[in-house]
Amino acid sequence: MPWSYSIVVASQKGGVGKTSVAVNLASVLSGAGYKTMLVDTDTVNPSVGIHLGIEGRSRGCSDLFRGKARLHEATVRHLHSGLTVVPGSMSMTHEAPSRSGMEDATEEMLNQGYDFVVFDTSPGSALLDSIYRVNYGMIVMSPDMPSFASSIRLDAAFGMMKIPHGLVINRVRKKRYELGMNEIEHEYGGKVLGMLRDDDSVPIGIARHVPACLLDRDSHFSKDVRSLAAACAANAGMRAGAIDAPKSNISLIKRLLGRSR
Ligand SMILES: Nc1ncnc2c1ncn2[C@@H]1O[C@H](COP(=O)(O)OP(=O)(O)OP(=O)(O)O)[C@@H](O)[C@H]1O
Ligand SMILES: [Mg+2]
Repeated sequence: MPWSYSIVVASQKGGVGKTSVAVNLASVLSGAGYKTMLVDTDTVNPSVGIHLGIEGRSRGCSDLFRGKARLHEATVRHLHSGLTVVPGSMSMTHEAPSRSGMEDATEEMLNQGYDFVVFDTSPGSALLDSIYRVNYGMIVMSPDMPSFASSIRLDAAFGMMKIPHGLVINRVRKKRYELGMNEIEHEYGGKVLGMLRDDDSVPIGIARHVPACLLDRDSHFSKDVRSLAAACAANAGMRAGAIDAPKSNISLIKRLLGRSR
């Protein structure tokens, strides 16, 4: 069976939007017909389950990493998005999972016939090299100096691990005081993979437990995530065309009932 293409969504700084990017990117890939698994490897503050309304599961990623559950016991099918999800589970111990436990569990995930496996992570680079076979490291940052500076450190860490990687700038508001795309590309010395605008649909989606891209596919954020997903499909050598027309049950229902967001 061919290995899945794995995308690790990471940041050195917390709260820049990793989980929002991972959940929405995975949903768009799934909506475009790619078989996609979303994995919450954050054992400190797992929140994929909160974003998708999957909570209170007895088994999760942390149990897989510690060899306390089998993969099929920790996966959930999320109907709105069509995603297979491995939600996080809060570890009661302060010990990080062992490197071999994480490698074994992520190796199994990548060998299940999915086109894409998207890993959400906790801030920092400590556990990134314990994920088996990373195809792309997606460094999420906000357009400000502290976030950029810490992204450069993560860029170096991915470079040392010889993992292809790139920047995604999130929460762009095009304010004068923000770092601009050209400025970032110039200082970074490479191309930025994606730019996602700041959009109310993101916190609204979290409050409603529906990925923003399915809640409102015409929002700025949805369009930006579709461009990002197309870039990921192209990187993975897959046909990106399907991403232009993701299926969205929610959007259809919303339109039929004339609901406003
Ligand atoms: N593009 C966006 N537009 C508006 N709000 C956003 C956007 N991206 C993220 N947010 C908001 O930022 C907050 C943090 O997002 P998120 O939880 O995805 O960050 P994180 O990097 O995963 O955090 P942590 O480091 O704690 O895991 C959330 O309240 C979310 O609604
Ligand atoms: Mg998160």
